[in-house]
Amino acid sequence: MAVIALTSASGSPGVTTTCVGFALSWPRPVLLVEADPTGASGVLAGYFRGTREYNVGLIELALSPAAPADALRDVVRPLNGSDAWFIAGTRSPAQSGALTRLWAPLAEALADLDESGQDVIVDAGRLGLAGSPEPLLAAADLTLLVSRSTLPALAAARAWASVVRRDSAWRQTGVLLIGDGQPYGHGEVGKVLDLPVIASVAEAPEAAAVFHRGAPAPRNFESGPLVRSLRAATASVQAYVARSHFELVGQP
Ligand SMILES: Nc1ncnc2c1ncn2[C@@H]1O[C@H](COP(=O)(O)OP(=O)(O)OP(=O)(O)O)[C@@H](O)[C@H]1O
Ligand SMILES: [Mg+2]
Repeated sequence: MAVIALTSASGSPGVTTTCVGFALSWPRPVLLVEADPTGASGVLAGYFRGTREYNVGLIELALSPAAPADALRDVVRPLNGSDAWFIAGTRSPAQSGALTRLWAPLAEALADLDESGQDVIVDAGRLGLAGSPEPLLAAADLTLLVSRSTLPALAAARAWASVVRRDSAWRQTGVLLIGDGQPYGHGEVGKVLDLPVIASVAEAPEAAAVFHRGAPAPRNFESGPLVRSLRAATASVQAYVARSHFELVGQP
């Protein structure tokens, strides 16, 4: 159905955590691509607590003599036992230069996956980093600027929001707010950033640690605010993308 990219302005608001949470709550087959050029796979070191070795990932995709569309299946790894998969990112920022020529063909390969019924979530890391996967952001059906609702977070997000509105080739941009109402609510945030707030995710540090660093699940994790908000957010994101497709081509 869609390629959805998540990125941030500053301050580690929870992009990687939300990407992992999204992938594990997604109601359809989904592929998470760790395209943050900072390096060190957040999934292998975080969610899997280093219990899984890096064996293949984006670097092998970039170095493969085959086109990304053909080599993709060799670098994809399971995220859980069902329908969620991931491609591990680089191991260090020094490797990100090797990826600059990968982004554009990878964007095309991901769009083809989308046509075959698999959704894609891209962890694009922070905006403005050297080696940023700009072609993936531009090709995504929806790019979400992830932000907390605090003043410093919103000040940084506002600066980037105006750059994105003015200069970017992104197809659609929205905000994913972490901690709606703590202190600013989605209405105020949407106005300040002049972007639609597409979804909110609860601020829940203990539960977030499960996705961020593989911490043991707290009591009632599955029925708690984080997982419930992630499910609602995935539904809002899918509805938004489906509505945009409808407006664009007149059919879902
Ligand atoms: N919904 C949430 N509620 C509370 N804490 C959260 C939430 N999401 C993430 N966190 C916490 O925020 C911190 C940063 O998370 P994460 O690494 O996902 O951010 P990031 O935006 O990917 O950062 P970076 O730009 O450094 O990659 C972690 O301690 C994580 O547990
Ligand atoms: Mg991250």
